[in-house]
Amino acid sequence: MNTPQTRGSVPRETIDEIQSRSDIVEVISECGVALRAAGRDYKGLCPFHDEKTPSFTVSPQKQMFYCFGCQTGGNVISFVQKHEGKNFIETLEWLAGRLNIDLPNRDSRGSANRKRFTTLEDLNRFAVEYYHNQLLTDSAGASARQYLRHRGVQLKTLRSFQLGYAKAGRRDLIKVAIDKGFTIQQLIDAGLIRDEDRGPQDRFWNRVLFPIYNERGTPVGFGGRSLSEEHQPKYLNSPATVLYDKSNILYNLDKARQSIYKKQHVLLVEGYMDVLMLFQAGIENVVASSGTSLSENHAKLLKRFAPEVIIVYDGDASGFQAAQRGLHRLLAEGLRVRIARLPTGEDPDSFTRQHGATAFTELTEKAINLIEFQIQAAIQRQDIHRIDVKTQVVKEVAETLLNLQNRVERNEYIRYAAQELHMEASVVWQELRDMGFKETPTPNQQRRPKTKNQKLTSRAQIERQLIEALIQSPASISHVKSQFDYQSFTEPIFVSIARLLWEACADDENVDIQTLINECPDEKLRAFISGAMLQRARPPNLLQARVDGCLKKLRHFLLRDLEQRYRSHALAEGADKRETLEELVKLSNQRRALRNRETADTREENLNEGGN
Ligand code: UTP
Ligand code: MN
Repeated sequence: MNTPQTRGSVPRETIDEIQSRSDIVEVISECGVALRAAGRDYKGLCPFHDEKTPSFTVSPQKQMFYCFGCQTGGNVISFVQKHEGKNFIETLEWLAGRLNIDLPNRDSRGSANRKRFTTLEDLNRFAVEYYHNQLLTDSAGASARQYLRHRGVQLKTLRSFQLGYAKAGRRDLIKVAIDKGFTIQQLIDAGLIRDEDRGPQDRFWNRVLFPIYNERGTPVGFGGRSLSEEHQPKYLNSPATVLYDKSNILYNLDKARQSIYKKQHVLLVEGYMDVLMLFQAGIENVVASSGTSLSENHAKLLKRFAPEVIIVYDGDASGFQAAQRGLHRLLAEGLRVRIARLPTGEDPDSFTRQHGATAFTELTEKAINLIEFQIQAAIQRQDIHRIDVKTQVVKEVAETLLNLQNRVERNEYIRYAAQELHMEASVVWQELRDMGFKETPTPNQQRRPKTKNQKLTSRAQIERQLIEALIQSPASISHVKSQFDYQSFTEPIFVSIARLLWEACADDENVDIQTLINECPDEKLRAFISGAMLQRARPPNLLQARVDGCLKKLRHFLLRDLEQRYRSHALAEGADKRETLEELVKLSNQRRALRNRETADTREENLNEGGN
């Protein structure tokens, strides 16, 4: 757990400095969100959901953002975290880098490693640039340029992916890199050269190079395509290095992430060329697994950016099998998965070149769900009408269903599978239970999250007002805290926020809402707090009146709770009736007194508000 003073090991003062010097409007604009001044605030189209009229609001004054459409919100740190998919520390590093602030080294071993990292990153950047220039300018790059042109890669694509060319020589890169001051060991560590009997040799020669970047846009390795059939393997990739672990890297995630956020789904393809051609055709939310099997880390990485993955693997047997394997990994992380199927012999690259981007998009829109896919797969393999085959298929389907994290979805799929296989849903349920599944069928579980005030009880509405007023005027927290237990709130979200406020108030008389947001573990809570901050500002005296008013009303509810408890106690066997009755009388007197005072106060309050 983080202490209240620091996050990770970055001191609170540093966090404060980074935060106070990072202007939220500038940062959000730099991240590509177009903002327009609207009164004191700025407005724009929300990057976290699709919308046509701007409900994304940024307040330079409060240094907060909030989307009234999708209820996402927070401060500059939470924005970068969410938008760029970084964790807290990475976000601080990014913001600090932008301001030229040095983050204190977190530990000496860490800093030695960091240095090694930076050198290798520099070396990779150097190699990307070197190979890219070879492709663009060197006469030796002509054949590679022609190869790419022939495959339909336009110049702008070639530039934006920083494609490169490694010449046919065996010591080209070594020479220039050594001249530049890098060492043989560094070249080996980066996987760019191999130490062979004949001495060190370039790893890549006579290949078109696809630089591979991590999700933050740092080059970590290369994929090299041979230019001819004879030159095998077709693709030669960088080996695993301290920077490049293929189970952590998805090709093009750095360029695709914005679009993935916006579209709320990602297209997963197999190859480098698939990504390039789709991107060139304007389909940007695409990443490639690059022929590796999908790992748990891949799934986790994708989940940071979108809840749904559409797999578009090659239309051949191996693509089909790879899709099946990948699917389970994704499901296990709680991602929704659909599969788009390409005609036999086609891959996204060839399909798009032949039929165009619109046809490709149509194909992904028709992507089928995984159970459909599995049933189709089974049908393709065998005669589904045979009873033993059907039993086998039910088993396979049930195995997939076991992997599903979302209960509502599972129920839907079970219904769907039963229908497709012409059997009772109970048979599928039985299969699941036989496999050790614990839950019983629960139809009608589907519940929608509550939106603002919709269906809040009147008591919860008062709670909401109180919490919002406290966020807007943190100076009142200690007063309320002294009379009101956070557990007395009835809505779980208010309990959590009150708890945060109460706890923050213990350290510090002045609760700092920005710090609170940084330390708040839950995105929903952060959004609620930011939403409250961005409401129309009320003058302090009215806020105070509101806090007092809410407190009184809530006290009334609390007394009623107590009374009820005593009443049921009085009705229970063996209770001390007399004492309980006395308590009850006392309580209802208190409640009446409170009500009388409240009526008088409300009258006064109304007069005040009316006069303003
Ligand atoms: P494919 O064989 O489908 O290649 O492998 P491709 O993407 O269609 O490439 P082109 O169109 O023939 O140039 C898909 C991916 O698997 C990895 C690469 O990442 C490739 O993009 N792969 C393939 C390798 O790593 N090594 C290989 O020898 C082949
Ligand atoms: Mn392919």
